[in-house]
Amino acid sequence: MAPSPSIEIHPDRAALLARSQQLVAEHIQAAVAARGRCTIALAGGSTPKPLYESLGQMDLPWDNLHIFWGDERYVPLDHPDSNAKMAKVAWLDQVPIPPEQIHLVPTELDSPVAAAAAYDHTVQTQLGGEPLDIVLLGIGDDGHTASLFPHTPALAVGDRAVTVGDKDGNPRITLTAPALNHSRCVVFLVSGANKQSALAQIFAPQGDDHAYPARLIRPHGELWWLLDAEAGAALKP
Ligand code: 6PG
Repeated sequence: MAPSPSIEIHPDRAALLARSQQLVAEHIQAAVAARGRCTIALAGGSTPKPLYESLGQMDLPWDNLHIFWGDERYVPLDHPDSNAKMAKVAWLDQVPIPPEQIHLVPTELDSPVAAAAAYDHTVQTQLGGEPLDIVLLGIGDDGHTASLFPHTPALAVGDRAVTVGDKDGNPRITLTAPALNHSRCVVFLVSGANKQSALAQIFAPQGDDHAYPARLIRPHGELWWLLDAEAGAALKP
């Protein structure tokens, strides 16, 4: 039985991000203290960028950090839509994480299927069956998370860690719901009034997980929802 989520509503986006920095840094330190390394899967989109910038200013055990992505657009690394490009510019290029510990999605491969299969191998090999220590996620206005979009085939994939997602016909590479749930700590970062409707559906006691895929995320470990007041208004009684 998955533990119940920890939900925090912060006054504004800045407070949300300050809290997320504290929570993520604490979990990085705890993972390294307990197991000698921390494996973290990063979210894309715009919300986490200031978090990544703030983490880059900290003194964290960079030698022991292993970076993965929860999802990636099927674009080159230098493309403006690349999640890896955003994280490298905001954070990873500013700190001395050993390059071999930054596990980029190989979007240079000649098809999304090939990229997903290669990344599945990377994730399985690097984790060796261990859970991810930290998974960072956002949600879209439509209730997607990572690149698990409503009513797409990726939602039903359970026999591998990585599959091909589909956003309006644009291919994505995404961790599967079981892979995201095989983690010690999932942290959702959600900001803005535009997320209220999806949040209400995600938190509804009854609902369609395939209509609002973030409902599929019920990790074996901790589940944190860090919201700003605009997004969190959805949860007010
Ligand atoms: C992506 C993300 C995606 C994102 C949400 C929220 O590749 O776009 O992984 O799942 O987290 O769409 O995006 P914002 O933070 O920009 O609202």
